[in-house]
Amino acid sequence: MDLGLTGRVAIVTGASRGIGRTCAAALAAEGAHVVLASLDPARNAEACAAIKSQAKGKVLGIPTDFTKDDAVRTLFDRTMSEFGRLDIQVNNAAYVGAGDFFALDEKKLAEAFEHKLNGTVRCSRYAIPHMRARKWGRIVNVAGGAAWHPQLGAITVGLNNAAMLNLTVALANDLGKDGILVNAVVPTSIRTERHDENIRKAMQKSGKSEAEVLAPRTSRIPLGRMGTSEEVSDVVTFLASERASFVTGSAWAVDGGASARM
Ligand SMILES: NC(=O)c1ccc[n+]([C@@H]2O[C@H](COP(=O)([O-])OP(=O)(O)OC[C@H]3O[C@@H](n4cnc5c(N)ncnc54)[C@H](OP(=O)(O)O)[C@@H]3O)[C@@H](O)[C@H]2O)c1
Repeated sequence: MDLGLTGRVAIVTGASRGIGRTCAAALAAEGAHVVLASLDPARNAEACAAIKSQAKGKVLGIPTDFTKDDAVRTLFDRTMSEFGRLDIQVNNAAYVGAGDFFALDEKKLAEAFEHKLNGTVRCSRYAIPHMRARKWGRIVNVAGGAAWHPQLGAITVGLNNAAMLNLTVALANDLGKDGILVNAVVPTSIRTERHDENIRKAMQKSGKSEAEVLAPRTSRIPLGRMGTSEEVSDVVTFLASERASFVTGSAWAVDGGASARM
């Protein structure tokens, strides 16, 4: 299937590792020009170098702190001066700790939204005018299964991801007339470096083997295993493509069936 991505210009936030990195790599391999935006400059440069070797389009790294409005404006200004257009925005970056409801104070609550939702709002605000100008655009928001499985022990994760879905539908309803399609993916239990780190910590703390630590997580998944970031980026790449032309306002679970329902 030709995804029609050749020559499209995409920004992927949080592209230095995990799901964002495979999204950037997949879009670049399909012929899109891709801007990698993430916080740490060294990790950003390493990811750019690795992705360039497989890319059909151009790859540009712009280290960006998406909690800072000035930095986000610079990201879009530099993208426009380099490529002159923006077609695809993948809002994936996050740094969300699992904040317990009873441990939340005003500062922690404000920070929690700053580390996912607010960055997505900021990036979307800057992206939309460029897409409107060409009457074509794709915004893909990476939410997370906690949106559908609320827990007080991880309330900041759930609230952020639920808000990502709310924003997705609100934007989709308004932007369809401008040819801009807005969708979300909802991953759960994806083995990224961050996930592996958590598993290592849980093994150290409990003295259990990797299989023992993973068992309670995978037993709730109909496919019986964790997912890979490539399995998420395949869906993101489709939603970012020409082929998803009648899909907007949707939320695609990528979780091995963990959220399956009627
Ligand atoms: N993995 C899962 O199972 C899972 C489950 C549910 C939802 N999700 C969602 O999927 C997305 C990706 O998850 P992941 O596991 O791939 O994450 P990850 O490996 O922790 O990567 C996070 C990315 O976000 C970037 N980032 C963090 N703070 C930033 C900031 N202030 N400004 C710009 N970039 C920033 C990081 O950049 P640096 O290189 O600078 O650190 C990194 O590139 C997140 O939205 C997450 O909530 C993942």
